[in-house]
Amino acid sequence: MCGIIGYVGSKPAVDILKDALTRLEYRGYDSAGIATIADDTLHLCKDKGKVAEVIKNCNIDNLPGYTGIGHVRWATHGGVTRDNAHPHCDAISQIAVVHNGIIENFEALKSRLVKKYHFKSDTDTEVIPHLIREQVDAGLSFEEAFFAAIRQLQGSYALIAVSTLADGKLFAARKDSPMVLGLGKDANFIGSDVLSFLPYSREAVYIEDGECVVMTKNTYQIYDLNHTPKKRESVAITWNLSEAGKDNQDHFMIKEIKEQPFVIRQAMMQDTRLLNRMAIDILRAHQVIFVACGTSRFAALIGRYVFSKIGHTFSDVVMASEFGYFSDSVDKNTMVIAISQSGETADVMDGVKQAKAKGATVYSIVNVEGSSLARMSDKALYLSCGPEIGVAATKSFTAQLCLLYLLAFAMDGRLSEGKEKLLEISSLIEKDLQTNLSEISLIAEKLKDKRDFYFLARGINFAMAGEGALKLKEVCYVHAEGMPAGELKHGTLALIEEGTPVIAICPTDYTYTDTISNISEAMVRGATVIGISNANQSIFAEWIKIPEVEMIFYPLVTVIPLQLLAYHSAIVRGFDPDKPRNLAKSVTVK
Ligand code: M6R
Repeated sequence: MCGIIGYVGSKPAVDILKDALTRLEYRGYDSAGIATIADDTLHLCKDKGKVAEVIKNCNIDNLPGYTGIGHVRWATHGGVTRDNAHPHCDAISQIAVVHNGIIENFEALKSRLVKKYHFKSDTDTEVIPHLIREQVDAGLSFEEAFFAAIRQLQGSYALIAVSTLADGKLFAARKDSPMVLGLGKDANFIGSDVLSFLPYSREAVYIEDGECVVMTKNTYQIYDLNHTPKKRESVAITWNLSEAGKDNQDHFMIKEIKEQPFVIRQAMMQDTRLLNRMAIDILRAHQVIFVACGTSRFAALIGRYVFSKIGHTFSDVVMASEFGYFSDSVDKNTMVIAISQSGETADVMDGVKQAKAKGATVYSIVNVEGSSLARMSDKALYLSCGPEIGVAATKSFTAQLCLLYLLAFAMDGRLSEGKEKLLEISSLIEKDLQTNLSEISLIAEKLKDKRDFYFLARGINFAMAGEGALKLKEVCYVHAEGMPAGELKHGTLALIEEGTPVIAICPTDYTYTDTISNISEAMVRGATVIGISNANQSIFAEWIKIPEVEMIFYPLVTVIPLQLLAYHSAIVRGFDPDKPRNLAKSVTVK
């Protein structure tokens, strides 16, 4: 889960690469670096720190040349140091490589290479330039050496190499890590995602596992690992540049929270025939299993409720990283529904591969067009919510819920009714956002010094407790637990003391009476209760009012205050909610 970019064209590479790294930064911000080729010399700048810091401290602007590569890092092997930052070079600085993924056999390779070449870093990646060097030293051309080196790698990689030996060409390879080529005017790009080159290209070519690419500014050729050429059509890029900006907001997170009424309307524009087809297939399956991680898994938990309540179909949710342990029960009559914003999450991809190997049908709900998950699925529904750049998932969650509601209504033959209801909800959320904004920042201020939070709810709202806690942990670095309210008395109640914040998600639905009674048990033991409800209650120290909606839709209206609480809490604590420590947007390692 690092970001990589390569450029070859007629403009100074450093300008394009700096810009690309800024847009890729959501994939990792431990360190950054750029290497360019000019006058038969490899020029390199890299350091630990965020992209802006590295650009400022490193004299990056002085890098010459029209071919180059760049990297933003989310550390896996080796600490956050300058030496471990990418690009990594061979011992005589003629070859530079950037890489996203994990080279699983790097120790075996390194133990051989270290006898011949000096290693400077603790990373797995550094074996790659040395491997290419070894092949060049054995007499191969740079191109042959690149392919021979790649064939020795095990693990996952999206990597790009440049060299003083390579006539200004870019060389790239992919296995189990995303990589896409962008075609421009007198320029070609290759990166982790289309966002990296969005201002410069409207045409993309998705690279598949086991493929390599050789590029100049006007040509590109895809090969398999045996160096046999392959053909691939380009596709149009649908995202536009304005969607990828902050739109005058302070952070992507708040911009993306505010976009949600529009996101609901956008997510509804699905192909009706496809939705109905998928609904029929779900109803026919012998078992339905949702596979997802993090926020997408909380969406799946709500999907499970709505499939049952609206679609009258039982389903189960398996955390993607645990899916392999259940694959014995998967067969050709199983429907796996994979949910993922990025469509690149390694745990999800791994689960889907195992499900496919067992003959299951795989449908996915995904945001990023052309992502590995979308391409691997039998059918895919797109969230259409535009790029989500804040590391904390917000609008993608709401779009995922919409698609799950639509599928559930389609399963019950009431798709149009479902659409009308969602449309009403989007207007209610629009109004609610105005009132909640300032009120919640005051509550965040009052809770500024708290370190432990409990989010309680029941039934369909329980997943919202989990999602609310996850958002707060992610951007505020505090302990937060989301749990079914009824479970509190079975142990966790022991942790409640004077002033402990308990966030109660308790609309006046079928969960209300029991939830209120569980919250009272916490309140009498000193908890400060923040109630998220359509009705006020004497036990609430603070009341966050939500609109009254049909029971099944409460997750769509409770999620907004939960996201806002996390956002404002990050702001009052002085944290950058867009770049939470230790995290990155897309987790492409297992
Ligand atoms: O791209 P995905 O939806 O597959 O990502 C899954 C999780 O990594 C993601 O939802 C993560 O939990 C978010 N950062 C939460 O805000």
